Amino acid sequence: MTAIENLANQVLDRCASTNDIAKYFAEKGLPHGTWVSSRIQEAGRGRLGRQWESGEGNLFLSILVRMDNKNRWSWIPLATAIGAVRFLSQKFPSLNFQVKWPNDILINGKKLGGILCEGTSSGIIIGLGLNCLHSPQALNQDTTSLTEALDCDLTIGTSLADEVRLEIYRSILNEVNHLNLNGPEQIRQSYEVWTAYSFGTEVEWGAQPSVQFGRVHGLGESGELLVTSDSGNALSLFAEDVKVRRKN
Ligand code: BTN
Repeated sequence: MTAIENLANQVLDRCASTNDIAKYFAEKGLPHGTWVSSRIQEAGRGRLGRQWESGEGNLFLSILVRMDNKNRWSWIPLATAIGAVRFLSQKFPSLNFQVKWPNDILINGKKLGGILCEGTSSGIIIGLGLNCLHSPQALNQDTTSLTEALDCDLTIGTSLADEVRLEIYRSILNEVNHLNLNGPEQIRQSYEVWTAYSFGTEVEWGAQPSVQFGRVHGLGESGELLVTSDSGNALSLFAEDVKVRRKN
């Protein structure tokens, strides 16, 4: 049997979920910044209990982070999205990357990647799924991949995950380290640049039959989304699935 430590900082051929492996890293006391990636996940998980389709060719990466300042933990999902987009915009300047609160990565409004952060008693696990080659269908959401957006041929697309893995890891870790040392100001500023929900964007959230409508006001103290509902209430959204409002 493989000792879990041997999987640290490795790209595996397959596993159930890289987030689960990173949780073991946390329990075993492995250091801040330890990562694991896999070419295929057999039980990839998304936010809100959803499945994350994890076929070969896309990027699946989990990073263990330890931050002493617990007040800043709630900013980790946005720090991750910003770190990823900071790198991707430099690498692929022709593409229009956006951050969709709290932690989706978009190109022109279509989902390119998602982030699942999971807290454990001994650390936080950041899980990133990035559509490099395929764009799996998602419920109520248009999706895309780097290969599609770059309009590149499949032979190039096949190696994109390998090409971006370590640099995206470094960029995310830099952003998280910066958050830990200096607080969320840099995230706030970068969010203004890349947000898919600028001030005044009309959004909807919640599930049928109680979908709510409102307008975005910005980010609160903990990275929560501030909105004013159509009925005039100022609300703070912490983990809801928020969408740009559909025009009927
Ligand atoms: C989302 O729902 O948008 C978040 C998707 C997160 C998927 C990544 S892939 C690597 C890590 N391992 C998992 O099982 N999930 C995350």
